[in-house]
Amino acid sequence: MFTQDFANRILKVEESPTFVLEKKADELDIKLKQEGKSIIRFGIGQPDFNTPDNIKDTGKKAIDENKTRYTASTGIKELKSAIVNKFKRDNNIDYETSNILVGNGAKHVLDDIMRVFINPDDIVIIPRPFWVSYSQQVILSEGIPEFVNFKKNLKIDMEHFDNVISKYTRIKGTGNSRVKLFILNSPNNPTGVVYTKEELEEIGKICLEHNIYIIADEVYEKFLYGSAEHHSMASFSNDLKSITITVNAVSKTYAMTGWRIGYCSADNKIIKQMTKVQDQSTSNPCTIAQWAALEALNGNQDSVEVMRKEYEKRRDYIYKRISSIDGMECALPEGAFYIFPKVSNFFGGKIKNSFDFADLLLEKANVAVVPGGAFGADEYIRISYATSMDNIEEGLNRIEEFCSRI
Ligand SMILES: Cc1ncc(COP(=O)(O)O)c(C=O)c1O
Repeated sequence: MFTQDFANRILKVEESPTFVLEKKADELDIKLKQEGKSIIRFGIGQPDFNTPDNIKDTGKKAIDENKTRYTASTGIKELKSAIVNKFKRDNNIDYETSNILVGNGAKHVLDDIMRVFINPDDIVIIPRPFWVSYSQQVILSEGIPEFVNFKKNLKIDMEHFDNVISKYTRIKGTGNSRVKLFILNSPNNPTGVVYTKEELEEIGKICLEHNIYIIADEVYEKFLYGSAEHHSMASFSNDLKSITITVNAVSKTYAMTGWRIGYCSADNKIIKQMTKVQDQSTSNPCTIAQWAALEALNGNQDSVEVMRKEYEKRRDYIYKRISSIDGMECALPEGAFYIFPKVSNFFGGKIKNSFDFADLLLEKANVAVVPGGAFGADEYIRISYATSMDNIEEGLNRIEEFCSRI
């Protein structure tokens, strides 16, 4: 009855597949609990660790000290200074506080960026497989997401990237393009892929040539394994710095997903426009959480390494187990806390795609994973290993058994 009254842009937006999956798993879990069983959840991308004590204590202290009022809508100056130091210390990028904006998580900051840049029908290039919210945020801002294919190693197919840009070049020879933004996410959700410096430089060069702004989503930068290294696009040159908006958050690094603090750095002309969005929509992110985030960035960093080491142990185990399952193929992830196995060998009969695979796995083996189709890569599934080793072992036992029966 109401459908025709809603704005077209919201009707085009899809529900978040991870939230849909969680809902499905919750419903099944209630039933299973009565039978003394439970679901192994590999769905949601959220650290299973608690927020470190020093950060929690700072949050509690902020309440006791009545740091509970509005702040500037883009964050307190103390936190912005800590972010400036963080970018210098960790990423070798020089910024001032006027280049920083703090929002309600990286997701919110990304949405601010889309609102600031996208005119109706502007193109935003997103390499597949992609984190689900990028494309939906583009649609919410009435832009058009254009996806770029990936190679066997799950990294961007540069030839296809070139073709997509050429498709939208307005005036031949001028480099001007209808493409407004390019979204880069390394370490990557859902694949765990980490781009090398050379690969990033190649992407950056193309974006510079075509006047395309780069959103560099670096929320998983601290979770790197083996010899993988993280490089920030904005650190390579002043030219690249001027077209790059670097997005980060305390959410994953410090197990602070519920505190909702994300941030970005960019040219201050961009920050000025983003400030208008937050001034008129959300105002400041939670004041208490901002003070806790300040402690996260400035305080002792040992907990980050403890979590990284544990994730690496889990990655090694899960990779070994999945590689030994007949019919499953997977690359060794170098970062984040996801593994992205190919399951298309199991397609046929009842299982037509990754959604069917995930549904059946949930129903028959009580294991929740996210279908690759949700990330634009239907031959795969995403397994999050941000869960305990016991869960991982049990979940892998169930997946192994499930795969041997289909
Ligand atoms: C790649 C990526 N970017 C951004 C976010 C959002 O982070 P936040 O919780 O800070 O909004 C996520 C969360 O899953 C993510 O995977």
